[in-house]
Amino acid sequence: MYVCICKAVSDLDIRRAVAHGACSFEALQAGTGCSTCCGGCEHEARELLADALEREQVAQALPIAA
Ligand code: FES
Repeated sequence: MYVCICKAVSDLDIRRAVAHGACSFEALQAGTGCSTCCGGCEHEARELLADALEREQVAQALPIAA
């Protein structure tokens, strides 16, 4: 699903950016271009970023099965 129409950034792109180290909205913007044009996607992009960061933290906290 496209979140940012101006820059063709999808929810998957946002999750990938977080998986590759984006940990702030500014880093997401720099890495994907999301919300760097009209700004109409900012609210949704911020929500998706927060969700992706939370999932990433939970994934890193899970013990690795031996
Ligand atoms: S829709 Fe994202 S900057 Fe316009």
